[in-house]
Amino acid sequence: MTTWLLTGGAGYIGSHVIRALQESGRDVVVVDDLSTGVAERVPEDVPLIVGSVSDRDLLERTMREYDVSGVVHLAAKKAVGESVEKPLWYYRENVDGLLSVLEAMSASGVKNLVYSSSAAVYGQPDSCPVVETEATVPLSPYGETKLVGEWAVADAAAVADLSWASLRYFNVAGAADPQLGDTSVNNLIPIVLRSYRNGEAAKVFGDDYPTPDGTCLRDYIHVADLAEAHAAAAAFTEAGGAAEAINIGTGKGSSVLEVIDSVSRAVGAEVPYETVDRRAGDPAELIAAADKAERVLGWTAQRDLDDMTSSAARAAGL
Ligand code: UD1
Repeated sequence: MTTWLLTGGAGYIGSHVIRALQESGRDVVVVDDLSTGVAERVPEDVPLIVGSVSDRDLLERTMREYDVSGVVHLAAKKAVGESVEKPLWYYRENVDGLLSVLEAMSASGVKNLVYSSSAAVYGQPDSCPVVETEATVPLSPYGETKLVGEWAVADAAAVADLSWASLRYFNVAGAADPQLGDTSVNNLIPIVLRSYRNGEAAKVFGDDYPTPDGTCLRDYIHVADLAEAHAAAAAFTEAGGAAEAINIGTGKGSSVLEVIDSVSRAVGAEVPYETVDRRAGDPAELIAAADKAERVLGWTAQRDLDDMTSSAARAAGL
């Protein structure tokens, strides 16, 4: 049985990754500063070490104490708008945090890394579905920190002989369990559920895009599928997998109106909405080419949009 260190394991995505790693036969130890994480999301049989990923010595001690063989590095700030307002803080948290993880791995001889990246590294791609070789032109400090992180991982790996995978998440949604829902209300599905609960109309940011119904297309991926991709990526690195950036999406786009329809099915009522102006910086379409994940990791998404909205609705108590 191998042990994996999961940074940010008390978060929305992290708590799902814990379970996927356990189900794949791995032990897990979590480091999380609980700034946004919730201790109760970490199962009782998983050690939770409360501390920052910037604490290099803590990471190194943890790696040695638990005989860690691989790291899934999730701990990071992820709100795009906030990153525009506080760019240096985002660099500090996301880039410094990663450097600390890489240094601790080097000091303790840990060779396997699964790095949490984002479709935000692409910015507004020229064509969709977007393949991993597409130009990376992030549009926000958040996306920039994720891209710098990919570079840091690749550069460190070249001298430290690391096996790694950078997973570029698309639009993550849903919950495997009502206790593990996304409480941050930063993204479309939680926002629509909140406005419905408050008796308000959801806002559709523009319906004049060059898409079939005029609203933006995104590749929504169930957080349980995403978590399983991490277990597949852990296995890939353990098998000595080469360095790879890999899209984690379904390969299928859903429009904002399709999402609202799906939420209506989930709550069993027509969810009201109104169309407002476009939001600055939104690409019309962002959809993953999902072939590489299937080819390299042997992983494909199993759950659909209705699974995401219905599980998110249950997690929101609706
Ligand atoms: C955003 C980030 C992305 C990040 C992801 C997950 C940008 C450009 N992208 O993706 O980097 O990885 O969050 O945190 O900021 N929408 C509405 N009404 C709303 C809210 C959203 O119509 O009230 C629309 C948006 O225009 C978009 C879609 O819903 O078309 C999804 O929006 P959102 O959940 O914010 O995610 P992205 O912007 O795709």
